Amino acid sequence: MVSSGPSPIVSLTMVSKSFGRTRALDEVSLDLMAGEIHVLAGENGAGKSTLIRILSGSHQAYQGELRVAGRQLRFAGPQDAFRAGVATIHQELSLVGPMSVADNLLMGQRGSAWALVRPAAELERARRVLAAVGLDIDPTRLVETFPLATRQLIEVARALAQDAQVLVMDEPTSALSEAEAEHLFERIETLREQGHGVLYISHRMEEIERLADRISVLRDGRLVTTARASELSRDALVRAMVGRDLTGVAKLEPPPAADAPLLDVAGLSVEAPHGQGGPLVSDLSLSLWPGEVVGLAGLQGSGAAAVLYALFGALPRAAGHITLAGHRLDSPSPKTCIDSGMVLLSGDRELSLVRELSAHDNVALSSLPTFSSLGWLRQQQLRRAVQQTTAKLRLSCPSLDAPTSQLSGGNQQKVALARCLLTEPRLLLLDEPTRGIDVGAKQDVYELVSRLAKRGVAVLLLASELDELMLLCHRIVVLARGKVVAEHHREQFSRRRLIASAMGDDDGEAA
Ligand SMILES: Nc1ncnc2c1ncn2[C@@H]1O[C@H](COP(=O)(O)OP(=O)(O)OP(=O)(O)O)[C@@H](O)[C@H]1O
Ligand SMILES: [Mg+2]
Repeated sequence: MVSSGPSPIVSLTMVSKSFGRTRALDEVSLDLMAGEIHVLAGENGAGKSTLIRILSGSHQAYQGELRVAGRQLRFAGPQDAFRAGVATIHQELSLVGPMSVADNLLMGQRGSAWALVRPAAELERARRVLAAVGLDIDPTRLVETFPLATRQLIEVARALAQDAQVLVMDEPTSALSEAEAEHLFERIETLREQGHGVLYISHRMEEIERLADRISVLRDGRLVTTARASELSRDALVRAMVGRDLTGVAKLEPPPAADAPLLDVAGLSVEAPHGQGGPLVSDLSLSLWPGEVVGLAGLQGSGAAAVLYALFGALPRAAGHITLAGHRLDSPSPKTCIDSGMVLLSGDRELSLVRELSAHDNVALSSLPTFSSLGWLRQQQLRRAVQQTTAKLRLSCPSLDAPTSQLSGGNQQKVALARCLLTEPRLLLLDEPTRGIDVGAKQDVYELVSRLAKRGVAVLLLASELDELMLLCHRIVVLARGKVVAEHHREQFSRRRLIASAMGDDDGEAA
């Protein structure tokens, strides 16, 4: 190849990496130019994060060559990558939970351990760093006290603050609302204008189309194509990623007729933990019929998430009654909820999965009583059931017995979902079920939700992507400040109206 024009700021040549018998990367070559947003796309397990971990110094053992600004380098650790001008936002966040926000942001920048008390000037600097991603929070608070979306923004802020020439972002918006993501996109576009190089991973098509100058697609560890974004249609991109055309999701049918609601929630109130701020939910009532898919929408802090967690007994409720299939759940705990046929998929994989346990054991975890008799676990039957459920979700992992920590992010999400399904719930509470899941698998999840609904399972769905809510739900309930402010029915769904009612604009209901 004859080289012409500007030289790349990062170039990876013939990079390969194996984990045991898994060939995660197979002779991948890729260039990142200054002033370019280069999207790295591909199915769950295609090798994207592995490539990112090589570029960020987390993996040191690999074959092939890495050049940054023309210099051939071999990083001995993340600090080396940082010094070479590569800042990384990791898919599984790299913040230290029991440390303050400021310590997380400024760590490493003074070249020494963190200080016990930060001088005012440093706290001020931390606040400025946070403001750049639209966060206005107390930098002395511990990172672990914030919800996932905030933690993800802190991780983004930290990478941006490094003012690195190269920014590597591995699904930086997977936990963000559309508004928060939009704010980040504007920042990323400014970085491009200033001549930084951005390597960006996402499973959200709208995002890829909005940001990408060029797109590289990985499949099974191999580079399938690198193309200008303008020359790659959405269909062609999907085909390159999944190796087939997607059929589209079957039309949603109305819920089957039933005599009584499956779930009745009356006067539910939930206080904020440690009395911080006002109540999360106040005096909320809601019914769900068998086979109904109901969406919960609302901005960050609207209380939508708190409803799910309070129903499942994972957040204490201050008042209210919950009736499931005619039975009152007086002091529900996650265990009694599962026993009565209600299960929650948590939006935070770090909380729901035991990373050291195998994929098999994580899937089995909530269903052990079902597969036990007289104190004996019916191992073979359990294993068959786990295999069937994970196959339905096209889980891709070297072995069901491998620790879950070795699965790619999207495949971990499938494990969490499979665990819920194995309990054979009558009511499924889903918090961002498709977080980090690739386009093909998203369709599988959508099909699955429709199929379950057809069989009479009710679904309460929280999703930050409005398109996902509008595709799957019969009804969308909008919350603001802990109260229901609007209810939209399928026939009248529109993005504009949903956004309007979430922002507390009355037109949302009237129009
Ligand atoms: N530490 C590890 N030990 C063993 N196998 C691993 C390890 N890390 C990754 N793998 C395997 O390497 C392959 C590529 O994983 P990787 O995390 O790079 O995928 P990905 O493209 O980022 O997927 P996703 O979209 O789900 O995040 C997968 O088969 C995964 O199971
Ligand atoms: Mg990944």
